[in-house]
Amino acid sequence: MCKKLCTFAEIMKCFMKKLVFFFAVMGAMTVQAKTLVAYFSATGRTKAVAQDITRVGGYDLWEIEAYEPYTADDLNWRNRQSRSSVEMADSTERPTIRICTDLRPYDTIYLGFPVWWGICPRIIQSWVENNILDGKVLVPFATSGSSPIEPAVEFLRNTYPEYNWQDGKLLNDYTDDTLRTWLAR
Ligand SMILES: Cc1cc2nc3c(=O)[nH]c(=O)nc-3n(C[C@H](O)[C@H](O)[C@H](O)COP(=O)(O)O)c2cc1C
Repeated sequence: MCKKLCTFAEIMKCFMKKLVFFFAVMGAMTVQAKTLVAYFSATGRTKAVAQDITRVGGYDLWEIEAYEPYTADDLNWRNRQSRSSVEMADSTERPTIRICTDLRPYDTIYLGFPVWWGICPRIIQSWVENNILDGKVLVPFATSGSSPIEPAVEFLRNTYPEYNWQDGKLLNDYTDDTLRTWLAR
């Protein structure tokens, strides 16, 4: 019986292989995909929904804030000259966002907004256009007076067909259980 003796070089080679494997596993663990809930809310309703999704799903939360916050006058949809009316009447308007966050760690983003004039506020377009969303699963959700979310999702799909838009969900009424079922879909 001949027992093969390992040379120092062979031992080092074996050790290095194990080291590479160890760092590959550690690397895979640190870049594990995460989910973000990013939302814009002018009067707090969508914010409350975003917080509930975050709590129920155990996700990260990010508020999309306008550099110039919207005042009550800005939000007066009965006034054609109000800031929101002017923005929504002009498809090229892109309100400035205060700060952008690093979206690289996230593979799924729940994107929340109030329905404005049947679609999403222009600031959501500012956010989409200021970020690289390739390969991410984008799940819209919204609150509204009564309008459905579907036209807003259709608008986002048509305007940004390069991105992966999932069917959205209007969350005017929900419980933790309905959220749980939706998030687990
Ligand atoms: C400028 C503006 C436009 C709106 N347009 C609509 C609309 O088209 N349909 C609708 O059902 N609600 C509309 N609403 C109501 C909001 O969607 C609703 O109050 C929403 O829940 C507010 O969310 P927030 O508190 O997160 O801003 C509008 C509100 C504003 C301020």
